[in-house]
Amino acid sequence: MSSGPSFPSLFSPLRVGGVTLKNRIVSSGHDTVMAEDGLVTDRLIAYHEARAAGGVALIVVQVAGVHESARYTSHVLMATDGSCIPGYRRLADTVHRHGCAVFGQLFHPGREIMESQDGSAPVAIAPSAVPTERFHVMPREMPVDLLQEIVAGFGAGARRLQEAGLDGAEIVASHGYLPAQFLNPRVNRREDAYGGIEENRLRFLRESIAAVRAEAGREFVLGLRISADERSHDGLTLDEALAACRALDADGALDYVSVVAGSSATLAGSVHIVPPMSEPNAYTVPLAARVKEAVRVPVMVAGRINQPQEAERAIASGQADACAMTRALICDPLLPVKAKTGRAEEIRACIGCNQACIGHFHAGYPISCIQHPETGRERRYGTRVQATRPRDVMVVGGGPAGLKAAAVAAERGHRVTLYEAEHRVGGQVLLAERLPGRAEFGGAITNLVGEVERAGARIVTNSRASRALVEAEQPEVVIVATGGRPRRPDLELKGDPVVLDAWQVLSGARVPRGDVVVADWRCDWIGPGVAELLVRAGHRVTLAVDGYMPGQHVQQYVRDVLLADMHRAGVKVIPTVRLFGADDDTVYLQHTLTSDAVIVDDVAALVLAQGHEPVDDLVHALTDFEGEVHAIGDCLSPRTVEEAVLEGLVVASEL
Ligand SMILES: Cc1cc2nc3c(=O)[nH]c(=O)nc-3n(C[C@H](O)[C@H](O)[C@H](O)COP(=O)(O)O)c2cc1C
Ligand code: SF4
Repeated sequence: MSSGPSFPSLFSPLRVGGVTLKNRIVSSGHDTVMAEDGLVTDRLIAYHEARAAGGVALIVVQVAGVHESARYTSHVLMATDGSCIPGYRRLADTVHRHGCAVFGQLFHPGREIMESQDGSAPVAIAPSAVPTERFHVMPREMPVDLLQEIVAGFGAGARRLQEAGLDGAEIVASHGYLPAQFLNPRVNRREDAYGGIEENRLRFLRESIAAVRAEAGREFVLGLRISADERSHDGLTLDEALAACRALDADGALDYVSVVAGSSATLAGSVHIVPPMSEPNAYTVPLAARVKEAVRVPVMVAGRINQPQEAERAIASGQADACAMTRALICDPLLPVKAKTGRAEEIRACIGCNQACIGHFHAGYPISCIQHPETGRERRYGTRVQATRPRDVMVVGGGPAGLKAAAVAAERGHRVTLYEAEHRVGGQVLLAERLPGRAEFGGAITNLVGEVERAGARIVTNSRASRALVEAEQPEVVIVATGGRPRRPDLELKGDPVVLDAWQVLSGARVPRGDVVVADWRCDWIGPGVAELLVRAGHRVTLAVDGYMPGQHVQQYVRDVLLADMHRAGVKVIPTVRLFGADDDTVYLQHTLTSDAVIVDDVAALVLAQGHEPVDDLVHALTDFEGEVHAIGDCLSPRTVEEAVLEGLVVASEL
């Protein structure tokens, strides 16, 4: 793209309350799992500083509990007493130095309690004793005095954030959390002044907003985050959300509305909290447009806006005033500066895989990004340190591990050549992107190849590296990233059954007509994806899973989409079975808990999704090579793109 003001709307300032944002790009509140003891840490500050330095106009810091009963995870940030102020202050000062505004999020989950603090389940409180489907929590109806304590907590929390130097805060009424529970007549069954007619259901929010204003004044920016459609069978509807926005805007106490979709309360609704690649880019923008019609204050929107072109469209068309590009910034903190300086094609676009961002959050680990493992590790890997002595580095294998290693080593000044055996780089990603609904996964390779090329590393394709090649080239360092191949377990095979690997099916191998069993050991994306492909090709498919459920090891929102797709496709699932053997038309399974035989008859083909084994011949062949040899990624131990890219970064950072 040529230089020049490519995104005029995106890079125009926006006034929000008394604060002027320098552009329309926002990092919306997202829990990083970097708080400790409920407080801001240096790691969290470094994380946000990287984004502020990259040119984002506004950082909304993750949710902070406003009352003891708001601890919905064991790592939630808290704003319940003055101990939070010094950390927030250091964060605000750091971010402000880059000309970036900073708001906080005032939060109470109500019944949406994800985790215990100590192993025992806390008493969840909510407007009414209506259980949440997703976490199976039955809350207690909160008495009015507790309700008023929480209202006061919103006010006091805002005052603390203001004292710490933050520019504003937003009340998290999105995603089915406490304020949304009050708004929703199917969840709020109260018969007092806080339930019943709309006016009453709005009372909790109105009092919370008033408490913030009473404590922090009119100058402190105050926003409302709301799901304009909770996308749940009993969730807040668009009309209900619009009515609430209209009424609160008319009160005149809010400075902006931040629009999302989804709810924590149901599996289907939660998918929209961090929508995976199966949702179209910018799909929530029409919801923001509806909210914009209902309110006078600026409207922000989040939802798979991963490129400046989309954000520009949303703003230029008047559908939103600012765009949260949250994972886009997790994946590429420099997105704003690249877009602004005519380098949009250098943006490492988020692919919506959900693996290391929300995936880490759900697993209780600090967030990162599979494409950019520097995220969350800013203090160790945030800056490329030039190599003291540039060396000749040979990288063998052009999958994600090798590509990342080549890019980072070359960026640090080493002379790097990458050898790839196939005619194009990409490794297993070239197959993974063929799974239904996962075409965007291939973007990881597009991004990495761009990084390699810009760093000046050389790529040689159609060249299978051997010890002889290494000896001929005499590199000072060899990084072996030769990946994996499909694992074929020992099976009892009789007769001549058709047995194919998932890779062969993805590569277009002919599968005989009839019923197919897909035997899925990894419980990842491959088994369900191949099953769905085969259904589309006209087969009846049984997915035999060596685990509790298909997609067991996949991030929950992604798994939910897989399970929904398989249900729609009519894939039959047999859980907790290991593959034992096959004959001409029968597949023999064994129950993993009882060892009982489970037999599937009339099978035309067996497809193996049994994980991978390392391709490590070169590692062994170089055992006594006198140069430095490293092995990374699947050739060490087959895992995922996340580990491959991380190991590429780590090894190349240390050369
Ligand atoms: C790891 C992670 C944690 C999140 N935690 C929060 C949170 O604390 N508060 C909130 O309002 N939204 C949270 N979100 C949702 C984001 O603010 C945002 O709405 C969502 O990621 C969709 O925007 P995107 O497609 O630009 O990433 C979280 C998202 C991620 C990825
Ligand atoms: S891990 Fe995946 S979804 Fe998350 S920020 Fe990175 S590319 Fe985007």
